[in-house]
Amino acid sequence: MQASQPPIVEVENLTKRFGNFAAVDHISFQVFPGEVVGYLGPNGSGKTTTIRMLCGLLVPNEGTARVLGIDIVKDPEKIKSQIGYMSQKFALYDDLTVRENLEFYAGVYEVPREVEKQRLAEIYRMAGLEGRTNRRASELSGGWRQRLALGCALVHHPPLLFLDEPTSGVDPVARREFWDLIYQLADQGTTVFVTTHYMDEAEHCSRVGFMHSGRLLAMDSPSGLKRNRLQGAAWAIDVSPLLEAVELLSSLPGIVQARLFGDLAMAIVAEGSWTRQGLVEALAARGLAVSSIEAVEPTLEDVFSLLAHEPG
Ligand SMILES: Nc1ncnc2c1ncn2[C@@H]1O[C@H](COP(=O)(O)OP(=O)(O)OP(=O)(O)O)[C@@H](O)[C@H]1O
Ligand SMILES: [Mg+2]
Repeated sequence: MQASQPPIVEVENLTKRFGNFAAVDHISFQVFPGEVVGYLGPNGSGKTTTIRMLCGLLVPNEGTARVLGIDIVKDPEKIKSQIGYMSQKFALYDDLTVRENLEFYAGVYEVPREVEKQRLAEIYRMAGLEGRTNRRASELSGGWRQRLALGCALVHHPPLLFLDEPTSGVDPVARREFWDLIYQLADQGTTVFVTTHYMDEAEHCSRVGFMHSGRLLAMDSPSGLKRNRLQGAAWAIDVSPLLEAVELLSSLPGIVQARLFGDLAMAIVAEGSWTRQGLVEALAARGLAVSSIEAVEPTLEDVFSLLAHEPG
């Protein structure tokens, strides 16, 4: 993150209501040039609604945002041509070829004719689409469709890219390759704001925001989220019977969270509340046999489930 530079996105109290229901509820954050910001949250938590407002496609009820210095309320039309947006249900034209799809979007974004050919060549190279330029979009597998969709969102060389679940339904190898493209873009200076449901993807973002019921509960680097939200320790405990152990752990004061972790029990304990030996003894006192207990690194998923269960 280059916090010394002015933010490329500044959001202040942004709110969108549908009727009485606040889909996005007074959220504030900033994105700095060159960041890859992950935006996570359960279905219906307001991620797409946020992005649609930032892309100038939806008018907020309250608050505002500046995207590339442009006010999304006063000047939404101006934003659209300057950003890249790959929506959750990205429209490719199935009857058109890879090249024709890119040419279509180049037209929409008013890419000057004299640079279009060069831009397309760059996108073929970046997305590995060379050799597929004459394939119809309908013939591409899911991973290749996503790459073409990314190319279409980039055809006008935007400095800021919004990607809404770009890798949903894509196999793990194609997902990793797609993320290699995201890093490559970020290395070249493109700022990326990306929603995902995959924790492994979130772990690789410079910062991660977590939405829940329209509220932005936290936004920080993955390590910062773990450090600040999960002070204390995480223990993976080989204990039997397993479910009883998880239930007991959940009920103990000072245990922030207890859950299954493969065939082990995972307990996240508040700072200074439990020693390793103390935990073993508490379990043993209830007749539960501990065969091993190891310190483990908490995951972002732990942070998020904790945040989602915190009152207020
Ligand atoms: N045009 C609309 N009219 C009414 N309600 C809407 C509209 N668009 C979104 N909503 C509601 O707003 C809430 C937030 O939706 P949004 O699409 O932003 O969620 P999301 O976090 O992107 O979810 P997902 O992970 O499923 O994509 C949902 O409850 C949704 O039903
Ligand atoms: Mg969505």
